[in-house]
Amino acid sequence: MTQALLDHAAEILRENDLGAYTVPTHGLYPFQWNWDSCLTALGQAHFDESRAWTEIETLFAHQWDDGMVPHIVFHKQDDGYFPGPDVWATGRAVPTSGITQPAVAGFAVARLYARAKDKNMARARASALLPKIAKWHDWFFRCRDPHGSGLVAIIHPWESGRDNSVDWDAAFERVPTEGVMPFTRRDTQHANPAHRPTQAQYERYIYLVQLFRGLGWDNERLHDASPFQVVDPGFNAILLRACSDIASLATELGQTEIATRSQAQANKGLGAMESLWSAPHGQYLCLDRQLGRLVQSPSIGGLLAAFAPIPAERCRVIAATLAGLGDKVRYLVPSHDPDAAEFDALRYWRGPVWLIVNYMIADGLTRAGETAVASRIVADSLGLILRSGFAEYYSPVDGTACGGGRFTWTAAMVIEFLTNGPQT
Ligand code: DGY
Repeated sequence: MTQALLDHAAEILRENDLGAYTVPTHGLYPFQWNWDSCLTALGQAHFDESRAWTEIETLFAHQWDDGMVPHIVFHKQDDGYFPGPDVWATGRAVPTSGITQPAVAGFAVARLYARAKDKNMARARASALLPKIAKWHDWFFRCRDPHGSGLVAIIHPWESGRDNSVDWDAAFERVPTEGVMPFTRRDTQHANPAHRPTQAQYERYIYLVQLFRGLGWDNERLHDASPFQVVDPGFNAILLRACSDIASLATELGQTEIATRSQAQANKGLGAMESLWSAPHGQYLCLDRQLGRLVQSPSIGGLLAAFAPIPAERCRVIAATLAGLGDKVRYLVPSHDPDAAEFDALRYWRGPVWLIVNYMIADGLTRAGETAVASRIVADSLGLILRSGFAEYYSPVDGTACGGGRFTWTAAMVIEFLTNGPQT
C-alpha cells in the first residue's frame, strides 16, 4: 500500500514537471507558483535531489531587483488562467505577477540540505541560494513592515495563499470595486465554482492588482497605499521559521552576516507575534493593521503559527484547540472553525483541509513534543488520499475532493508523510 501510494505520488510530480519547474496542476494553474514549488521540491528530493534544487533555483532566477520573489512566474503563454501577464503588467522579460507568497523557501532549502545524500552538491547549491533568500526576507521587513513592528503585512489576500479566508472578509469590505475592468474568470471553468472564491471577491482581488499596477509596482509605496494590510500569524510564522532555519544553515555554511541578521529578524518577529495571541480562542489571530485591531476569526492561520519556534506553552494550547476541532470534523485540519457561521466545508480556504498546511502544523507540533495531535493530522491526511485521491483540498467533514485534481504539492506532502513523518 505504502509503495503504491509513493509511486502514485511520484507519478503526479513527474506528470506536472515541465523540466525546470512544476505546475501545481495542469489546466487550473499552468505556471510556476512560489510556495507550491518550494514545497514540491521536498517531495522531488526523495527521488531526484538535483531536480529538487532546480525547482527552487528556477523560482529565484525570477527574483526582482528589490528582493521580492513573485507569486507566479509566467514561463510561457497560456490563456487558461486569469489574471495573466497582461493584467499584471510588471514589465519583466519573463512575466511575473507583482505580489509575493508565503516565504517557505528558507525552510525548504534548509530541509533539503539537512537531508541531502549528495552533500557536496547541496553545499554548493544552498550556498548560492542563501543570499537570495536572505534578500527576499530583507525585502519583506523593509517593504511589508515599513514601520518596523517585526511582523509583515500582506497587501493582497493572494499573498497569504489563503485567498478567500474568512480572516480577510472585514478588511476586504474596505476595498472598493469602482473602476475594475470587465474580466472573465478562468478558474471556474477548470474547477467547481462552489469550491472557489466568489465573484465579489474576485472583483476586489483585481481592484488591488490595478491599484498596485497604477503605482508602477513600486514596493516602497505599495504597503502604505494599500487599503488592505493584514498581519497574518500563519504567513509570519512561515517567514520567521524560514529566518530561523536559514540562520542555522548560514552558520553552518560560514555566511555569518546572513546568520546574524536572520536570527535577529526571527527573534524580533517572534517577540512581536505574542501581541497576536488570543487566550479565549486558544490560537493567534490576524491583525488588521489599518484599524490596529485583532480580527476575531478562528481560522487556520493562527494554528499554523505552530510552524514557527513559538513558546512551547503556545504550542500546547494550539494542540488542545486542534484536538477540539478534531472532535467536530472527521478530518483535521479544517481551515476554519466548523462552529463559525462563515464555515463552508467545500469553498477553498473557508473550511477545507489542505495537506501543505497539515504538514507544516504537524511539523511544528512534533518539534514542540505535541506528538498525539501531530499523529492524528498525519493519519487524517493519508486517510484523505485513500478516500479521495490527490486533490487540491478536501472537505473536513466527509473528505470530498475539491478544486483541482492530480495536485503536485498534495503528492509532495504524501511522499513526505510516508517517508519521514513530521520531523524535529
Ligand atoms: C488562484 O489563482 O486561485 C491563486 O490562488 C492566486 O494565485
